[in-house]
Amino acid sequence: MTATIVVGTQWGDEGKGRVVDWLAAQADIVARYAGGDNAGHTVTVGGERFALHLIPSGILYPDTLCVLGAGMVVNPARLIAEIDGLTERGVDASPSRLKLSVGAHLILPYHIALDGAMELQRGKKALGTTRRGIGPAYADKAARAGLRAGMMQDPERFADRVYEAVKAKNAILTGVYGQPALDAEAIAAQFHDYARRLAPYLADVSLLINERLAGGQRLLCEGAQGTLLDLDHGTYPYVTSSSATVGGALTSLGFGPRYVEEVIGVAKAYTTRVGAGPFPTELTDELGDRLRGTGANPWDEYGTTTGRPRRCGWLDAVILRYAARVNGLTGLALTKLDILSGFETVKIAVAYDYRGERLEHFPTEADVLARCRPIYEELPGWSEDLTTARRWEALPPAARRYVERVEALTGVPVRLIGVGPGREQTIVR
Ligand code: IMP
Repeated sequence: MTATIVVGTQWGDEGKGRVVDWLAAQADIVARYAGGDNAGHTVTVGGERFALHLIPSGILYPDTLCVLGAGMVVNPARLIAEIDGLTERGVDASPSRLKLSVGAHLILPYHIALDGAMELQRGKKALGTTRRGIGPAYADKAARAGLRAGMMQDPERFADRVYEAVKAKNAILTGVYGQPALDAEAIAAQFHDYARRLAPYLADVSLLINERLAGGQRLLCEGAQGTLLDLDHGTYPYVTSSSATVGGALTSLGFGPRYVEEVIGVAKAYTTRVGAGPFPTELTDELGDRLRGTGANPWDEYGTTTGRPRRCGWLDAVILRYAARVNGLTGLALTKLDILSGFETVKIAVAYDYRGERLEHFPTEADVLARCRPIYEELPGWSEDLTTARRWEALPPAARRYVERVEALTGVPVRLIGVGPGREQTIVR
């Protein structure tokens, strides 16, 4: 039993990248299983900051094999840019270390154009997508009209398919959305080049992973986004279009549950959300501004991918209990605990009030959630700076009580605590 799955427990941006980076030290393979370049992971190693969108942060270890699963949607231009960016900084991102599943779907320029056009059409009901073409690419996958990475094995034939696909989508872009047509010939030529670049990275990921698991290697599965952005289990329609929860790992990577040893849920010590949709513990006052930060620090609450300010609020234990249930969490990693220093008191939502009724379980219907008011428990805050703490005992008693309360409210042990962006700023329990 050698697979560990890391999932986000909130609305993404929980700090999965740094947790994966930390756990990757003990892994032979790190596999990303969902989403595309809508995600953004920031990892700080030796004071150097790496912002990754597609490639698992395990790439920053010298001997780890990194994998992109079939459940992903990949923009080839972005993947190539990320490979080149890492290579320039001396990180080996060659095909011997990085594999792209033949089953992953590709994001084409028309997906991005359609994402924007559909958001525009939604008007006030816009979802606040990252406009990276994610939803339209997954829609094509489900409609069995997508282009898969495996097609890049034959660049000539692939370019023909791209040409045909762009022409077909142009009819929709111009006819339905009144958008300009895309240049099919230019895009086909561009994708021909991408195919030549990426073909050496293609692999049968399920075969590769199962062979290695059978050989005793350790697999770390890196989720993107979070439980509440999951297409099935999130706050639909304010979700992304992939399976961000635990099942997505098995589907995407093609291995069975018997190998799964641990499911680690990453939770920020407070809650954030980007994009539209209900958010019960949101703070729209100066407390929220304080959690968000000014944007001057790389760890302030502004999107890695879009730079959008994140909506901030208190920790919500109703959400964490839900994430524990949906994912079968065996442990929690609580990140950014240091940010809560300096608050006189800190609050945790323990239940919701829905029209006078007390709800203990998270309601996934967006309309119900929008009418839920958090029922808070208030705990004493702490003023000490936590960023230099390296052991549980070094944390102030009030911070320890906060962590223990999270464990009691969720029934899941907190295994890791993040007290800063650095690899070393992690407390293991
Ligand atoms: P999409 O994934 O671009 O279609 O966006 C759908 C929703 O998911 C929007 O609310 C986005 O802000 C949100 N979202 C997608 N990826 C991330 C992420 O990595 N972190 C946080 N929110 C995300």
